[in-house]
Amino acid sequence: MKVNQSLIDPLQAATYIVGGNAPRFVQELKNVLDQVDGNLVGDTYGSGKMIEDFQNQMAAYLGKESAVFFPSGTMAQQIALRIWCDELRLPKVAYHPLCHLEIHEQDGLKELHHIQPILLADKDRLITLDDVVQLEDNISCLLLELPQREIGGQLPAYSELEAISAYCRDKGIKLHLDGARLFEITPYYQRSVAEICALFDSVYVSFYKGIGGIAGAILAGDTAFTEKSKVWKRRHGGDLISLYPYILSSKYYFDQRIDKMGQYYEGAKELAAIMNQCEGIQTKPIVPVSNMFHVHMDYSADVISPILAQIYEETGVGLTGYLIETSDKSCSFELSIGDRYSKAPKDKLNEVFRLLEMRLKVNGN
Ligand SMILES: Cc1ncc(COP(=O)(O)O)c(C=O)c1O
Repeated sequence: MKVNQSLIDPLQAATYIVGGNAPRFVQELKNVLDQVDGNLVGDTYGSGKMIEDFQNQMAAYLGKESAVFFPSGTMAQQIALRIWCDELRLPKVAYHPLCHLEIHEQDGLKELHHIQPILLADKDRLITLDDVVQLEDNISCLLLELPQREIGGQLPAYSELEAISAYCRDKGIKLHLDGARLFEITPYYQRSVAEICALFDSVYVSFYKGIGGIAGAILAGDTAFTEKSKVWKRRHGGDLISLYPYILSSKYYFDQRIDKMGQYYEGAKELAAIMNQCEGIQTKPIVPVSNMFHVHMDYSADVISPILAQIYEETGVGLTGYLIETSDKSCSFELSIGDRYSKAPKDKLNEVFRLLEMRLKVNGN
C-alpha cells in the first residue's frame, strides 16, 4: 500500500493539529524532568524504588498480581506469548491477521521464538467466539487486540469478550490482551481497567498512545508469569541499565491524562459525526468506540492532498500528514483524539469540512 506524505509540512505549519496530544518534541521530556527532584535515584537493571513503585502502582490499577516495565510493547508481547507457549509446551498461538505482531514486527515471534501464529477471522472484521470455537489447531494462547487498530479501532461487544474469556479458561487456552490502547476503551465499555483485565491471563498496555509519554509498556499477570518475563527481558536486552526517563514520563503523563479518556472518546465521536456529513467521506467505525478511528475518502490521494494543504493554510487547522492510497480512487488516514482536539476552535473545524466538501465537488471528479 502506497503512502502519500506530501501533507507532512502543511500539517506542521498548521496552528491547530486535530489529532494526538503534543508534537514529539524534547519539550515533552523536559516537562517531566522540571517536576522531578534531581536527587531522585534512578533504576538499575530493573531494580530500585522508582521502577518497583511504578510497577506496583500499575499492577494495582490493572488488577493483576504483578507488573513489569518494558521499553516496548513489541518486546513485552513476544515474551508474553513465549512464556505461555513454553508453559503449555505448544509453540502455537492465534491472533488477528492485522495484529501488531503479524504486520509490524518483522516476524519477531516466528524468527526469534519459532512460534507459529494461526490467523483468526478475516482481515476486515473482529475475532468472534465462533472463530475461536471453530479453530482446528490446538493453541497455547489467544491474543486479542482491543481496540483492533488496523480496522479503525473496532471493539467486540463486552458480552462477546466475556464469552471468549470463559471459553478459553474452560479449554485451558491462555488469553493475552494487546491493550496498547486499553485505557482508551474504558469509556465505551463503561468498565474499569481492572474489570477488563480480569478477563485475561496477561495484559500489555502502552504509555505513549492516549497517555502520550515518550515510550514504554507494562506487562502484567500473576507473579510466576512476570518473574519469567523479567528473565526474558534480560535475554532480549530490554533491561537497560536505567529506564527512568521512560518510567518518569509514563508516570507523569499517566497522572495528567488517565482521567481524560472520556473527553477524548467524546471528541472522537463529535469529529467523526462532522466528517460523516461530508459527501465522499466515511469514518470507520461510523461511530467511534474509543478515541481513534479511520477516515476513508472516495477520492485519490493525489486529488485530495493539494486541496487539504490549501485548507490547512486558510483555516490554520491540520487533519493529517499522510494519506494511505487504498486504491487509485480512494485513500484513508487514522485519527486519535487527545489534548489537541479541544484546542481547535469548532467554527474553524466546521469550516474545514465545508471547504473540503465544496472543493471536492468542484475538483474531485
Ligand atoms: C496495537 C499495538 N500493539 C503493540 C504495539 C507495540 O508497541 P511498541 O511501539 O511499544 O513496541 C503497538 C504500537 O504501535 C500497537 O499499536
